[in-house]
Amino acid sequence: MTANADLNSASAGPEPAGVVCPRHVGLIMDGNGRWAEARGLSRTEGHRQGLDTLRRIIRHAGHIGLEYITIFSFSSENWSRPKAEVSFLMGLLRRFVQQDLSELHETNVRIRIIGDRDGLEKGIGQLLHEAEELTRGNTGLTLVVAFNYGARNELARAMRLLAERVKAGELEPEDICVEKISSALDTGSLPDPDLIIRTSGEVRLSNFLLWQAAYSELYFCDCHWPDFDEAAFDKALEAYGMRSRRFGGLSAKAL
Ligand code: IPE
Ligand code: IPE
Ligand code: MG
Repeated sequence: MTANADLNSASAGPEPAGVVCPRHVGLIMDGNGRWAEARGLSRTEGHRQGLDTLRRIIRHAGHIGLEYITIFSFSSENWSRPKAEVSFLMGLLRRFVQQDLSELHETNVRIRIIGDRDGLEKGIGQLLHEAEELTRGNTGLTLVVAFNYGARNELARAMRLLAERVKAGELEPEDICVEKISSALDTGSLPDPDLIIRTSGEVRLSNFLLWQAAYSELYFCDCHWPDFDEAAFDKALEAYGMRSRRFGGLSAKAL
């Protein structure tokens, strides 16, 4: 058993596997670069393969009836990578939206974007906006794309928004509460992620949904994102089904 397998095992008495399905799964799609380097390929080839994996996982999530999936596609810290890699990733996002939008729309997927839109190339900002608008009325899987996203940046923008409302006399400081902060975040009305999966063996959140992950179940697997597949996803769901979520209280059995 690896260290990560330990981390993923059920935290309390087993409940029947697969019975409890998460509503919202967050995906930290990590390891594209290492996957490519291990094969003597360029890092960009890893990102290209990673996009194919993403397509399969989105289809699978739709088939099994998941309500929300949030994918970490580019972090606010990823700008520090070499310029060529950053521009490849921008191009890949552009291609993903251009090539896949009609299929996503036809399969009733609703797209939501989270992250800081300031400072994005105008064309990309416009494309993301169009994807959200086209799919606004869809009622199937909600695909939340975290792009130029960092949780600290999101929280700072939310705090600024609330401060402006206080300054304008629309809000009293004593009325600022957990719910007001939650709804000022990019995720607004979305439910918190029940399960967050990170591939590639790294055991950290890297600034992903820090506020929203307060009670998320975390699942780490060693395979790199391009090798992740439907079976690996189902395995994570099964592990989730074995967890005992207590939210600070006691499990039903103990009451
Ligand atoms: C994840 O893979 C994709 C993005 C961060 C955009 P990485 O590019 O981080 O791959 P590794 O972690 O270097 O292997
Ligand atoms: C997190 O992966 C960001 C995405 C998957 C988009 P990173 O590869 O950027 O995270 P660190 O640098 O290993 O923490
Ligand atoms: Mg990485």
